[in-house]
Amino acid sequence: MDGNGRWARQQGEQRVFGHHHGVRAVRETTEGCAELGVGYLTLYAFSTENWNRPKEEVDALMELLVQTISKEIKTLMDNNISLKAIGDLESLPRKCHDELNQAITTTSSNTGMELILALSYSSRWEITKAVKEIAQSVKEGKISPDEINEQVISNHLCTKDFPDPELMIRTSGEMRISNFLLWQLAYTELYITPVLWPDFGREELYKAILDFQKRERRFGMTSEQVTLK
Ligand code: IPE
Ligand code: MG
Repeated sequence: MDGNGRWARQQGEQRVFGHHHGVRAVRETTEGCAELGVGYLTLYAFSTENWNRPKEEVDALMELLVQTISKEIKTLMDNNISLKAIGDLESLPRKCHDELNQAITTTSSNTGMELILALSYSSRWEITKAVKEIAQSVKEGKISPDEINEQVISNHLCTKDFPDPELMIRTSGEMRISNFLLWQLAYTELYITPVLWPDFGREELYKAILDFQKRERRFGMTSEQVTLK
């Protein structure tokens, strides 16, 4: 979800104004995905590197997070969505952490889409943590180095309970991944739109999905192999 700051500047407003307007896009995208039967939607809401932003902006984002989670529980319940979170959640302010855990518990028996918030998340942080855990298991003799395979690594990532994404949408036209799910995106289709996040909504979501549906996903194989079933 990128472009909130630029969107606000275009309106002659402070960056935080853009973040507030980004909430509408979050709601519309979440509802839109749930309606379409999407199984998992991951929103990259706050990166490890975002902690380096000016304190006022970080504080405003954390406050917005608390408010939005509590306000949107009804949206989650109405749409049968269960909330999950990935990232260094311990580093979030206490209030945020509590609000988040409460929403996760409240929505845990919903059986529809899983909405995964990436908070204080970065892929390098996640991979470093996984390597440490695996190294510890080797040291304790629970696993031998020969037994380390892709599955073992995946099982140590925050996303162990979720499938790899099929489609990644990035708004605001930046042509980069910015430390997001580097391992999991190996064969994900990328869709980058110049639309700034506060202007994103159902219509833009449908455009992205229609584009995705035209792609041929070969996973390293040939076109003949994937079309001959
Ligand atoms: C994305 O918008 C929102 C968050 C990172 C929380 P930005 O804040 O990155 O907006 P730009 O990139 O400055 O326009
Ligand atoms: Mg940005």
